Amino acid sequence: MALASTESVSTSTSTSYDFGPAVGLSCRECGALYDLGPNFACIECFGPLEVAYPWSTGRELAADQVGEALRARIESGPGSIWRYAPLLPVPADVATKPNLAPGWTKLVKADNLAKELGLRSLHVKDDSGNPTHSFKDRVVAIALEAARTFGFHTLSCSSTGNLAGAVTAAAARAGLDACVFIPAGLEEAKIVMASVYGKRLVAIEGTYDDVNRFCSELIGDPIGEKWGFVNVNLRPYYAEGSKTLAYEIAEQLGWRLPDNVVIPVASGSQLTKIDKGFQELIKLGLVEEKPYRIFGAQAAGCAPVSAAFKAGHDVVRPVRPDTIAKSLAIGNPADGPYVLDIARRTGGAVEDVTDEEIVDAVHLLARTEGIFAETAGGVTVGVLRKLVADGRIDPDAETVVLNTGDGLKTLDAVSAGARPTATIRPSLDAYRAAFPDNS
Ligand SMILES: Cc1ncc(COP(=O)(O)O)c(C=O)c1O
Ligand SMILES: [Zn+2]
Repeated sequence: MALASTESVSTSTSTSYDFGPAVGLSCRECGALYDLGPNFACIECFGPLEVAYPWSTGRELAADQVGEALRARIESGPGSIWRYAPLLPVPADVATKPNLAPGWTKLVKADNLAKELGLRSLHVKDDSGNPTHSFKDRVVAIALEAARTFGFHTLSCSSTGNLAGAVTAAAARAGLDACVFIPAGLEEAKIVMASVYGKRLVAIEGTYDDVNRFCSELIGDPIGEKWGFVNVNLRPYYAEGSKTLAYEIAEQLGWRLPDNVVIPVASGSQLTKIDKGFQELIKLGLVEEKPYRIFGAQAAGCAPVSAAFKAGHDVVRPVRPDTIAKSLAIGNPADGPYVLDIARRTGGAVEDVTDEEIVDAVHLLARTEGIFAETAGGVTVGVLRKLVADGRIDPDAETVVLNTGDGLKTLDAVSAGARPTATIRPSLDAYRAAFPDNS
């Protein structure tokens, strides 16, 4: 039975935790409101839970919690995601605790790429600048706080690679144990990163979806009793970290929303939370209300959400991934149906590009803007290029495209054509011989 959004279903966990402004967990399907706890599914309808705040439950807000006063408080905060602590499920003193303090990455004005694509205004939100070189540091930072609050001694996850590195690094800094799970056969750099922090890294024979199922089993076993799986039993908190991308984009544009955002989709969590972040900014009077379009980007070798979008379906049929964009290789995306809703509601779309187009786009971004993206960034830039070419992105609109990870993690994708222009002896004569017209 669905409950009114201000009624609360009491769960077995205590309500005395300090989660800052968060007031509970609400079901995305039926709206039932629960106490804050390490829970992720509604006991009424099995819908996914997400963090609820006074502004989402229609409660009164004080004058210093909205508009100019809130903006001033944010602007005087640290240069990390913690400047947005008043909008996140974390205690007010979160920045004083040992963590990797991710976020506040560059919003690069990409005039060269814009010119090449025929766009008037384009920015790249470059999350390769995070501590472990992907956007996953944002989500892990919030999940880590929740893990500490609930008294978990081990941080864990199912991962397509980037999350594994972010979790093991965050656990190292916080002094927690970690045990992370990846599908065997990931990129070498991601395996090195996840293991260098001295934590347990377990490769599972199977796809990401097999890994995720295994982690759900572990939670139900005594082995996993005190484990915080950042994207399973801590998923509602973890997911909130992606809102900080929406906040930063708006603040870095001068407290404005862009017209279009192009976002990579694996589980779809990041895309849904960027939309939630934009909605909150409007509700809290931090930006002016305006229409914006959200576009999801997938690799053709793992494009279940794009396929559903194109077919006009509301359900997402799982696929078996086969793409070089391994970080996006989730064949059964938990948030797929919500991605479809958001793309349709905002007038956006979900599109996909082939592996060849991904590699081309990695080169294009590097050549035009000096940004070396991992394959996931190739997916977003490739999809952007396709959307502009098809006339689905207005060339006069203001667009932001996300690069969520660092190209050094997926070197194999571009290493085939990488070699020195020439190899010469250290002498001027040798240089002149190799480049006779010095060009
Ligand atoms: C680099 C990168 N970008 C984007 C994503 C997509 O995230 P989500 O699962 O929230 O859709 C991932 C997921 O692993 C990733 O590693
Ligand atoms: Zn429900």
